[in-house]
Amino acid sequence: MRGSLAWWIAAGLVVGMVMAWRARFVSPYRAQVKQVVVRVPRKHRNLAGLTIAFVTDTHVGPHVAASDIEPVARSLEAIEPDLVLFGGDYICESPRFMASAAPVLGRMAAAARFGAWGVMGNHDLSNIRERVVPPLEAAGIRILTNGAVCVDTDRGALWIVGIDDGLLGEVDLDAAFSNVPPDGAAICLWHEGDRIEESAPYGAFLQLSGHSHGGQVR
Ligand SMILES: [Fe+2]
Repeated sequence: MRGSLAWWIAAGLVVGMVMAWRARFVSPYRAQVKQVVVRVPRKHRNLAGLTIAFVTDTHVGPHVAASDIEPVARSLEAIEPDLVLFGGDYICESPRFMASAAPVLGRMAAAARFGAWGVMGNHDLSNIRERVVPPLEAAGIRILTNGAVCVDTDRGALWIVGIDDGLLGEVDLDAAFSNVPPDGAAICLWHEGDRIEESAPYGAFLQLSGHSHGGQVR
């Protein structure tokens, strides 16, 4: 009896170690494309069928190589989305990682039919905004900092509203939404999703956020 209990404990330990190893060294580097169908409000039903790719928290740095996010670029090149939106935290630890990250992120942006936009994350700002934004813009990712852009898609106009990072940036929701007409269809991009009660009254029908790395809000 005691021998079989020891066997189960040992087996449990091995399974636990394998799961921990996968969680640390395998899963974070395995690109996953999740398809989510978003109901658009009736008044914006002309936008139904639009394909938007949302990429966030790539965190290229000491633990994630640019080559680790290449599968995402390949997936987007196959999907050919209408828009590619980025939720921030492109890099971490040092702005020098922009050199390898920007070309791969640029490939993702180039996969979009109508363009690519993004916002800053806390890890981007801790690596100096001025050293992160220019390489992204050069790669075709237009960064919105408390600003909005009206994208003229083949299904109608869609506003993309980008909020500055909520932890290290200067959030100005009034400025961000100031150009969006009251009846405009808008998507809000904000790195952190936990302040959605502040952004919701501004009327975007969808907010896309990262930062939580798959947790907190489902
Ligand atoms: Fe973050």
